[in-house]
Amino acid sequence: MKMVPEKREKKKGYDLVTTGIKGLDEIIEGLLRGRTYLVTGETGTGKTIFSLTFLLHGAMNNEPGIYLLVDEEYEDFVKGARDFGWDLEYLIDNNLLSILTLLPDFIERMKNKPLDTIVRSIVENIAYEASRINAQRLVIDPVAPLVVSENDVSWMREYIRSLIINIEKRLRTTNIITSEIPTGSNSLSRFGVEEFLAAGVFVLGLEKINNKFYRTLFIRKMRWRPVNPDIYVFNIVSGQGIVIKEKLSNLYRKRGI
Ligand SMILES: Nc1ncnc2c1ncn2[C@@H]1O[C@H](COP(=O)(O)OP(=O)(O)O)[C@@H](O)[C@H]1O
Ligand SMILES: [Mg+2]
Repeated sequence: MKMVPEKREKKKGYDLVTTGIKGLDEIIEGLLRGRTYLVTGETGTGKTIFSLTFLLHGAMNNEPGIYLLVDEEYEDFVKGARDFGWDLEYLIDNNLLSILTLLPDFIERMKNKPLDTIVRSIVENIAYEASRINAQRLVIDPVAPLVVSENDVSWMREYIRSLIINIEKRLRTTNIITSEIPTGSNSLSRFGVEEFLAAGVFVLGLEKINNKFYRTLFIRKMRWRPVNPDIYVFNIVSGQGIVIKEKLSNLYRKRGI
């Protein structure tokens, strides 16, 4: 194979999108615009807060975003965010944010439809909304829909693959998908395919040190970016979201472990 030096030059000009997560952007510099990233972890580890930090940072910086709400009622979600210090309704009223829900009748209608039809329908709905608010960011939380039985793992894998490919083809948004790992499992994602399709993987977790729990963020993969896989400790701060504190190894050192 012949090496083409000009192409290597171009590679340096990555178009990066900041996450708005304090401490993380300093480490990764940003996400590749137009690509899809996976945030994974057990329940309660901060996946939704991570996703919203990313969307709200965009909304505040003239990059409107879409949040595909999958497993919570719209009202509960908006209220939860308000209690956290985030006024989603203000952003929605100003076309900086749009929250899409999978309506029960959609799920019913899609139940026995071929995979392609379901994916096309979801992507078309997102694309319509994306062009309305000129969306630059998209979150699907979680990526697994309530459309089929979760036991059908091969269907789910094909669905996730098709969804990501079609979103990246059809939209220009930078995307975060979340995937919930069952408690106690060692896998990186629920269906074992998300991490291969994503340009980067963030694993959220909890670490118990001297009987105290710490929230952790493991940068597991960052395609084409010079980022080491490292584990960081973070806090969840009202009104700010995820805030990175320090490397987990520093914490161990300070505690003399
Ligand atoms: N105001 C707050 N300050 C600190 N932590 C909070 C606050 N509000 C919620 N949390 C924590 O955030 C966690 C929920 O995060 P979430 O993003 O919903 O998790 P996931 O989506 O991974 O299930 C809860 O476990 C809760 O302890
Ligand atoms: Mg969640």
